Amino acid sequence: MNMRKLARALLAPSVALGLLVAVAPSPAQQNAGGAPVGNAERGRPLFSDTYNCYACHGFDAQTGERRLVPMNYPLEGFITFVQNSPLPQMPSFPDASAQTLADIWAYLKTIPVDAPPVNDLPLLRDVLTRKNQAAAAK
Ligand code: HEC
Repeated sequence: MNMRKLARALLAPSVALGLLVAVAPSPAQQNAGGAPVGNAERGRPLFSDTYNCYACHGFDAQTGERRLVPMNYPLEGFITFVQNSPLPQMPSFPDASAQTLADIWAYLKTIPVDAPPVNDLPLLRDVLTRKNQAAAAK
C-alpha cells in the first residue's frame, strides 16, 4: 500500500475530530450553586488595586476595618453582599461582576490567618473603640 495514502487515511479522521473538539463550546466554569469559579491570582490585583478593597480592609485583608480573613462567607453570599451592601460603612459595588467577586473571594481564601484578632491587642482595641466613639459623637 502507498504509504502516503495510508498516512492520509489515518490522519483525516483525527484532524476532523480535532476540529470538532476545538469548535465545541466549552461550558463556562461554574460551581454547583451556579456561581462562577474564582481565580485567586486574578483576585489579588482586583482586591488591592482595581477595587481598592485594600484601602479599608487592610494589608492581607486582616489589618483593616473590618478584617476579611478568615473569609467565612459562602461565595454566593459574598457576591450578593458586595454588590449590594446593606451596611452603611461598606460601599456597594454593583458594577463588580460575579466573576470578579469570585476571583476576589478565591484570593481571600488563600490568605493565611496571621494577624491576631483585635481583641487580643488591648492597645489596638482601645484605639478602635475611641475611633468609633468619636465617629458616633459626630
Ligand atoms: C470605604 C471603605 C471600604 C471599601 C473600599 C471596601 N469595604 Fe468592605 N467593608 C467596609 C466596612 C467599614 C465594613 C464593615 C461594615 C459595618 O460593619 O458596618 C465592610 C464589610 C465588608 C464585608 C463584610 C464583612 C463581615 O464580617 O461581615 C465584606 C465581605 C467586604 N466588606 C468586602 C469588601 C470587598 C470585596 C471590597 C472591594 C470590592 C470592599 N469590601 C471594599 C469598608 C470598605
